Amino acid sequence: TRVLSVASECVPLVKTGGLADVVGALPHALVGAGVDMRVLIPGYPAVMDALKRAKAVKTFADHFGGPARVLRGKLGEAVLYVLDAPHLYDRPGGIYGDAEGRDWPDNPERFAALSSVAALIGAEGIEGWSPQILHCHDWQAGLAPLYLRALGAGDRVASLMTIHNIAFQGMTPPDRIASLGLPPEGFTQDGYEFWDQVSALKAGLSYADRISTVSPTYAGELMTPEFGMGLDGLLRARQADLTGILNGIDLDLWTPPYKSPRGKAKYRAALREEFGLPDWPGPLCVMVTRMTEQKGLDVLLQALPALLDRGGQLVLLGTGARAFEEAFRAYARDHAGVAVTIGYDEQLARRMIAGGDAILVPSRFEPCGLTQLYGLRYGTIPLVARTGGLADTVIDASPAGVAAGAATGVQFHPVTAQALAQALMKLVKLHQEPDTWSRMMRNAMAAKVGWDQSAAAYAALYEEMVKTE
Ligand code: ADP
Ligand code: GLC
Repeated sequence: TRVLSVASECVPLVKTGGLADVVGALPHALVGAGVDMRVLIPGYPAVMDALKRAKAVKTFADHFGGPARVLRGKLGEAVLYVLDAPHLYDRPGGIYGDAEGRDWPDNPERFAALSSVAALIGAEGIEGWSPQILHCHDWQAGLAPLYLRALGAGDRVASLMTIHNIAFQGMTPPDRIASLGLPPEGFTQDGYEFWDQVSALKAGLSYADRISTVSPTYAGELMTPEFGMGLDGLLRARQADLTGILNGIDLDLWTPPYKSPRGKAKYRAALREEFGLPDWPGPLCVMVTRMTEQKGLDVLLQALPALLDRGGQLVLLGTGARAFEEAFRAYARDHAGVAVTIGYDEQLARRMIAGGDAILVPSRFEPCGLTQLYGLRYGTIPLVARTGGLADTVIDASPAGVAAGAATGVQFHPVTAQALAQALMKLVKLHQEPDTWSRMMRNAMAAKVGWDQSAAAYAALYEEMVKTE
């Protein structure tokens, strides 16, 4: 099956979160399942720098307000298409906003331009290659299924809309409908209208042939008012077309430097030393995260004494909302058992996951989550909220889970300071029982967290979706 995957980020070129990991891993994961996947992303400065001497395979005299080209590059063994449109992407700052964190005012146009090129490639092909399926990730690619239909190619080329995070919906005032090139008759409740605005995500959910998200539990949660963020009704109506396929991680990129639980000791000691943490008896916990409301950081701050009072420690790496950054910095200043690094650092993330005894993921919602999967792979016991992909990937150390020797982590619910504190106390207890703990580590390290199963699931889904030979 020939698939064009369309997204706003992709490892190793540009990343702000797990979306980039997944988009970068999919083409390689799918080769073995017989899928020919190419990827289309915007030509941000970092991407253009990495591309060098790439060939232009499509040009536009004017695409959303300026000249543009599609360049052909490489993503490992896979073909990468990059939309080079300097008026949209060649600017300093972040990929979604300026250095102060304000969204770029022309984000609707920036990602409409991406989606429109995806639809054009769907309708016309590119370099003699024509995708049978557009795989659209999050709101940035949400308009592609709509443009595809507007081009009259919706009956030949299928589209899949994947929700990685429904909190971002790509909203635009309706006075931009014309400049975005949207069919005005679609501005209805059954189309792309959402609370009197244009919603790029809703367009994807309304016009794509199929919808997926990144875990089975989150697929179910999305159909409830609590998690659906206003789109639960639409998703309930499309339940038959909605499926959840778990993310995997790249097992080559994420391999622990030790083979058995005992090998961790050296890395734990190194991590304590790196952060000047004393050698306390409790579990050394780590957390690597975007610092947003989603991730439960406020709840963690309230619950931390339960860990620290029992000899546990925390090393946190993250960046995001100033208020969270400041709160954790201050907390670390006042508590000997806590160390915090504000920033983004892949190598440090690896050292933390190798050295930690446990990894914390107390998210309010989590479509899939990747850091608990890294934790499993490294025998770094995940302590997670029982939600979304966290619920699907961690086997709780319930009495039954422990008795059966199956547990790989600790789950808690609901996301309150009290429930998290109790989970942290439970973690400390488990850590005090060496047999139970090393059994959990071995289980965790043996858990299947690669792409095999999910690649097969995507391949089967694509095959079902194909409209023409
Ligand atoms: P989300 O996409 O919601 O941020 P995920 O768990 O799916 O959550 O993916 C987050 C990805 O970003 C992981 O690969 C994680 O290791 C990485 N990451 C997040 N924050 C940082 C950071 N401060 N430094 C290094 N890596 C980070
Ligand atoms: C989103 C979600 C996260 C998921 C990632 C990749 O950023 O917050 O749970 O793992 O996308 O699908």
